[in-house]
Amino acid sequence: MPRTHLVLDAAFTVGPVRRRLFGGFVEHLGRHVYDGIHEPAHETADEHGFRKDVIELVKELGVSAIRYPGGNFVSGYKWEDGVGPVDQRPRRLDLAWHSTETNEVGLHEFQHWLDQVDSELMLAVNLGTRGTQEAIELLEYANIDAGTALSEYRRSNGRQEPFAITMWCLGNEMDGPWQLGHKNAEDYGKLAAMTAKAMRQIQPDLELVACGSSGASMPTFGEWERTVLEHAYDDVDYISAHAYYEEDGDMASFLASGVNMDHFIKTVTTAADHVQAQKKSDKRIDISFDEWNVWSISKWNEQQKTFELQDWPVAPRLLEDVYTVADAVVVGGLLISLLRHADRVASASLAQLVNVIGPIMTEPGGPAWRQTTFFPFSLTSKLANGTSLQVKASGDTVDGGKYGEVPVVDSAATIGDGTAAVFLVNRHQTESTTVTIDLAGIGADGEVRAEGIWEDDVHLVNDLSDTERVGLRTNETVRREGDTVTIELPPVSWTAVSIG
Ligand code: AHR
Repeated sequence: MPRTHLVLDAAFTVGPVRRRLFGGFVEHLGRHVYDGIHEPAHETADEHGFRKDVIELVKELGVSAIRYPGGNFVSGYKWEDGVGPVDQRPRRLDLAWHSTETNEVGLHEFQHWLDQVDSELMLAVNLGTRGTQEAIELLEYANIDAGTALSEYRRSNGRQEPFAITMWCLGNEMDGPWQLGHKNAEDYGKLAAMTAKAMRQIQPDLELVACGSSGASMPTFGEWERTVLEHAYDDVDYISAHAYYEEDGDMASFLASGVNMDHFIKTVTTAADHVQAQKKSDKRIDISFDEWNVWSISKWNEQQKTFELQDWPVAPRLLEDVYTVADAVVVGGLLISLLRHADRVASASLAQLVNVIGPIMTEPGGPAWRQTTFFPFSLTSKLANGTSLQVKASGDTVDGGKYGEVPVVDSAATIGDGTAAVFLVNRHQTESTTVTIDLAGIGADGEVRAEGIWEDDVHLVNDLSDTERVGLRTNETVRREGDTVTIELPPVSWTAVSIG
């Protein structure tokens, strides 16, 4: 049986675990908003039409900041369409997803929903088909108290106090040729800098995110970040990163997706630090990893080919990936990568939340349920507190497909107030593996528990026919003797060990 030994020491810290690391993302896309979080005819709907059963699941998931309203959608969006009397709002073509946007839900309604789920709004502005002027108008509408045309307009729409939105995304994936208003790095960097400067004239303490690359495989990856930041370094706080992974017939590589995420983070921080050095700046730019998940992009590419030009449906079933146990293990592994880089990843958003590549699914008039990926996210969000630690790991390796030989076990650890948590993935496809954890350096006493996700059939899913087929399981093999914890991890598994 492969073996791994981990040493934890409170002196070797990565950085604080910021709550924004456990963010989410809600885009006007498919059945995410309409027939997802919002379904006025559903028996659980509140007075604004939001499903309370979904609200409960989102709370249980433990998401912090939620990015909104896109995604590709935002690059063609007019925020003004989503405010004012609902029955007077225009229906528009959504070019990004070839759908009809009814605008029944806009900023006010979404903020109401966020108040129910207790999450912070991270708002994206349209720098695709629109620009600086519309961004500062939205900021005036949202954040100015009173006494100007747009702040008074907000008040007349029923919201007296400002929305007080702190974190703003300056566009979405502007490096992608699929994006409405796609730009080269020079043009986008200048636009981002100009927009950020204007926004800061209204409110200097905003936290602004410039678009980074929409994937590590983009031909401009690295160079894009450098060029954008050469223009916008002084004006923004974060550079975004987006990454999606899929099984695609190669389970070994899929299980090692965290290696790719590590590389992604290292490349982006290197590019940012290069510009910092060039500019002799004291300021550091960190990452907003504001889209990450498992997503079967190849299935989506096939689905797109079936679209008819004349069809513009409302809330069609798009990107409704049904997640397997293996997908959940990879999601848990990606969270491990994010925790390992808690010093440079200031914020991250699981993309997305409900129905659309989401950990939560719903049926119109029917139930809402947890997908497999729900479990590693909710448990990590709950247990990862305090400070992320560097884990000193030694042990066996396994074939990681296109990433070469990789450690059998991937791990991250956090320590809080007298508590600790260790997150583990066994990437071996056929063998269990033994892990020993040396806790002498962290001084955490108390009960040791281990919960995780694994099944003999790694392709098991939760779906409408059985919404609770897969869930968290207790790993009964965990033992503590003095300062050493020993646990056996089943093949293709994700586990969280909590201490104290
Ligand atoms: O999350 C789905 C889409 O993926 C987003 O709209 C876009 O930003 C990315 O390409």
